[in-house]
Amino acid sequence: MGGSIVLVLLLSLFLLLFSVFNVSDFHDPLSEFGSSFSSNPQFFSLNPTLHNHHLLNSFQDLFTRKLVAYAGTNNGNSAPKSSNMRNDSYIEGPLVEELTFPANSAPFNSCHASTIVEVEKDHFLVAYFGGSLEGAPDVKIWLQRYKNGSWQSPIVVDEQEDVPLWNPVLFKLPSDELLLFYKIGPEVQKWSGCMKRSNDKGITWTDREQLPPGILGPIKNKPILLENGLLLCGSSVESWNSWGSWVEVTADFGMSWRKYGPIYVPNENISVIQPVPYQTTKGTLRVLLRSFEDIGRVCMSESHDGGQSWGYAKPTELPNPNSGIDGVKLRDGRFLLAYNTISRGVLKVALSMDDGDSWLDVLTLEDNLEMEFSYPAVIQASDGLVHITYTYNRTQIKVKTKFLMLNMLSKK
Ligand SMILES: *[C@@H]1O[C@H](CO)[C@@H](O)[C@H](O)[C@H]1NC(C)=O
Ligand SMILES: *[C@@H]1O[C@H](CO)[C@@H](O)[C@H](O)[C@H]1NC(C)=O
Ligand SMILES: *[C@@H]1O[C@H](CO)[C@@H](O)[C@H](O)[C@H]1NC(C)=O
Ligand SMILES: *[C@@H]1O[C@H](CO)[C@@H](O)[C@H](O)[C@H]1NC(C)=O
Repeated sequence: MGGSIVLVLLLSLFLLLFSVFNVSDFHDPLSEFGSSFSSNPQFFSLNPTLHNHHLLNSFQDLFTRKLVAYAGTNNGNSAPKSSNMRNDSYIEGPLVEELTFPANSAPFNSCHASTIVEVEKDHFLVAYFGGSLEGAPDVKIWLQRYKNGSWQSPIVVDEQEDVPLWNPVLFKLPSDELLLFYKIGPEVQKWSGCMKRSNDKGITWTDREQLPPGILGPIKNKPILLENGLLLCGSSVESWNSWGSWVEVTADFGMSWRKYGPIYVPNENISVIQPVPYQTTKGTLRVLLRSFEDIGRVCMSESHDGGQSWGYAKPTELPNPNSGIDGVKLRDGRFLLAYNTISRGVLKVALSMDDGDSWLDVLTLEDNLEMEFSYPAVIQASDGLVHITYTYNRTQIKVKTKFLMLNMLSKK
């Protein structure tokens, strides 16, 4: 009885606050995808374990989400550092986190831009770049194996004398062949796309193959394999006063390529990079995109013709402080995204029930503005567990990757 009165009061408060927020913040003419998730009643029935207090906390989520997004867009410095939102409503089972190597144990000072692939059950590979500093001539691509419950030491998988390597991306084909894409070049604007392959679970790798001129391969995030056999890679270009994204497609796993785009925000020279490609439930293709500070939101673009033509990128409601994102379409249809909010010191997970039209903020992975937790890589393993790796304060002498499992299997 008392509970339902409280609920009615909170609901009224919610409606009142929501209308206030709507007047004061979000009427951004650019925002076409970002309809509010309050109008999505499915949200409350999707998880059968939600109780009343979860429901109330979910209303808090809505309030704080709005606040965080608002602060993230307009005034990162004075944004609320932490919030009282419930952060584990959707997480089942323990959240396991570990660093892939102990502090000060690696033969490099700095590492960044991790990627993860499941080789077989409970057997994973993680790669990243590491050296004295991002972009230094000694930066190599390192690989680590997780097997039999522990991490093996990092080993070099490719290097180039006096030239840094960048942003590896691992992917496993249905044949079990592993692909490793990465970039080589003295700076981002001059890098070239390369790849290696492995047919023995990443123990040995082929000689380096260089991708054709103008093809960079998946620039940060894993590609997706379409039903028609095309491997679709999200790529992007950061040249002078001109940032934008492309979709690069290969029908023969890296031998020949086509590219489609550019995908960008009109009237913004420096707009969107590092696409996260996925196929929506209704069959269209979408990419979520990192954006430059002037835009400040995760952006989205859609293709209705299998990835050949793409709409302009448009901001979603999710904040983005010019920082890498990654996500995965879960097998239950939800889309899970890991992203930074007000800075690279706050790393969160959002879920979408409608392929990115609206979002729920479900988990804070990290919240410490003195540190950097960035460049997430997200996969859902064969057992349904979600694994997220990310850069752990790369400016430290140790750079680490955390390893988290979120059991998202509750919905059948
Ligand atoms: C796997 O780990 C267990 C316990 O750590 C150890 O006893 C066993 O020898 C390991 N097996 C292999 C094949 O490394
Ligand atoms: C884009 O860059 C050009 C110069 O290359 C400049 O004239 C134009 O104003 C810029 N557009 C915006 C929106 O900043
Ligand atoms: C959830 O939030 C609480 C309170 O802020 C915090 O102590 C806890 O570590 C958070 N859990 C996760 C998984 O982020
Ligand atoms: C994280 O990195 C920053 C910048 O290098 C450094 O000042 C800080 O001490 C580091 N924090 C931890 C906990 O390692």
